[in-house]
Amino acid sequence: MRNLIDIMDLSVEEIDGLIDVAQDIVENPDKYTEKCKNKVMATLFFEPSTRTRLSFESAMYGLGGSVLGFSDAGSSSTTKGESVSDTVRTASIYSDIVVMRHPKEGAPLVASYSSECPIINAGDGGHNHPTQTLTDLFTIKKEMGRLTDLTVGFCGDLKFGRTVHSLISALSRYTGIKFVLISPDELKLPGYIKDGVLEKNGLTYTETKDLDGVIGELDILYMTRVQRERFFNEEDYLRLKDSYILTSDKMKHASKDMRVLHPLPRVNEIHVDIDDDPRAAYFRQVRNGKYIRMALVMKLLGV
Ligand code: CP
Repeated sequence: MRNLIDIMDLSVEEIDGLIDVAQDIVENPDKYTEKCKNKVMATLFFEPSTRTRLSFESAMYGLGGSVLGFSDAGSSSTTKGESVSDTVRTASIYSDIVVMRHPKEGAPLVASYSSECPIINAGDGGHNHPTQTLTDLFTIKKEMGRLTDLTVGFCGDLKFGRTVHSLISALSRYTGIKFVLISPDELKLPGYIKDGVLEKNGLTYTETKDLDGVIGELDILYMTRVQRERFFNEEDYLRLKDSYILTSDKMKHASKDMRVLHPLPRVNEIHVDIDDDPRAAYFRQVRNGKYIRMALVMKLLGV
């Protein structure tokens, strides 16, 4: 039985294969409408979500399967003191695949020990978000035509941004990637990614606070929201929340071929004026999330 807890659970060849299948789904959707007929997905969201939950549910319906679950753990028996393991074990008895988001780092891994079916980590605290990474990689491949030889800027909350951690880990296995880490001092990339991924693999990276100074060098600008829910006090959040706001003026200094990605939701960090700029890829990224999740669900179900 195969789970997806961390993006490194998948080899580069498997990721490339998922991207190929996702592209085939885009081009030939009719081939896939019954691939998961009679299969059931449980979506267990112990933390809020719009895109991840809806894209998984849309993916499963698009494959002819059905969905059960909850989007608010307050309506489940966790409020009576049931453990995450027992909740997931129960859901796995009624379903063929479980998609789970939880505010505690490592919760999906722990849950996988008691699950009777494959588990997908749909985001665990400030740790990992592997299916967002699949979405990001599929988007970069579609937009740039390659996953190699790119200068990728990560901007904003690199400390708590789980999508950043997973994407850096994934890109570390592709050749010719230069990482530009743009954040305030308080929101720098954690040591376990900087040392354990970038330094360990001898990858090229720079750290700066100055988005304006580097935007012209980037092929991809990966903007992120400052993660209010992970802060220990509101004052720090309020001080840091508007550290970076991408505006049309800033975009004038970017390459005409640069692409702006954002896992969303956004708060203030990308001005809405940019949404119509052809370089703004974040709503195309939202659309891609459904197709790559369809490919992943089929793979884990052995369809
Ligand atoms: N990108 C992402 O995880 O969005 P949601 O929190 O809306 O699922």
